[in-house]
Amino acid sequence: MDIRVKKEAPDLLKTKPDENSLGFGQHMTDHMFVMLYDEGIGWHDAAVQPYENFSLDPAAMVLHYGQAIFEGLKAYRGNDDKIYLFRPTENLKRMNASAARMCMPEIPVDAVYDALKKLVALDKDWVPRADGATLYIRPTMVASEAGLGVRPSRQYIFFIINCPVGAYYPEGFNPVKIFVTDKYVRAVAGGVGNVKTAGNYAASIMAAVEAQKLGYTQVLWLDAIERRYIEEVGTMNIFFLIGDELITPPLTGSILPGITRDSVLRLTKDWGLKVSEKRITIDEVLAANEKGNLREIFGTGTAAVISPVGEINYKDQICTINNGKTGELSQKLFDELQAIQNGSSADPYGWVVEV
Ligand code: COI
Repeated sequence: MDIRVKKEAPDLLKTKPDENSLGFGQHMTDHMFVMLYDEGIGWHDAAVQPYENFSLDPAAMVLHYGQAIFEGLKAYRGNDDKIYLFRPTENLKRMNASAARMCMPEIPVDAVYDALKKLVALDKDWVPRADGATLYIRPTMVASEAGLGVRPSRQYIFFIINCPVGAYYPEGFNPVKIFVTDKYVRAVAGGVGNVKTAGNYAASIMAAVEAQKLGYTQVLWLDAIERRYIEEVGTMNIFFLIGDELITPPLTGSILPGITRDSVLRLTKDWGLKVSEKRITIDEVLAANEKGNLREIFGTGTAAVISPVGEINYKDQICTINNGKTGELSQKLFDELQAIQNGSSADPYGWVVEV
């Protein structure tokens, strides 16, 4: 596929934000990648171009029925000042799994990967230097055909936008407090919980808002049928270190197959830990805590990286983990992942690619 590259005019380049107070998703860079899809033609008009608004028909199907999928990955500035991506093609492949489930067209992975590298290279001055800050990359696809019938759209827009980010949570790398909800559910096997579609996040907002009013950063979801088995947290997968066993819920169809989750499984197995992907109930977690066996809880995600959990609240039972402090394993994983991602540690897995 031919990818046009049009650079922003030098006098229109944006002023870059202070790298020490980036927040998350607030400042978009100067460029974006866009390509269009029409049934019968396929993907066309691919361009890396200046960042700009879209013009969408008010009847565009995404605005009514939510045919929208996205990904999240990051570019890192290495200590050698080179720019690295972490497992980028895994995100593009996962996007195609989401596309298949949502009756949307697959993207051409090789061409989009090429476009992604061209885009990041053009926006390279936006990749932050500050410790812990990165360039967050958001590939997205939306249904753009105008029409109010409920069916797959025949037209789509795929785009990639970038923004420099700091820590996802206001707590930074410090432990977060999580509220376990048994009032709302996120997903059920056979639904869309295992793909990255916008509606999953829209459906999660009410539980998150209620948890935040009670002083909690995120919600821990239980399974939708028995409301006992742990699933995942708002924007991340979840791990428990109980005794010497590291446990995370298995991918049974309602949980997002996180790429950071997969990387953590790989690293910890190679470090010789006992690692289990198995169902675990909230009662088992609380019982382990009672017995003094619950050593650490942490979340994993591209945005959240490794996020230690210092407290969980389930039906007003407050469970403090590791005295509310970051655990040794969470810290080690955070340090090792960051070192691999910025090129300062060896990468035996071939996860990191230079832009
Ligand atoms: C990510 O970790 O990249 C995500 O997609 C979470 C996002 C909804 C903030």
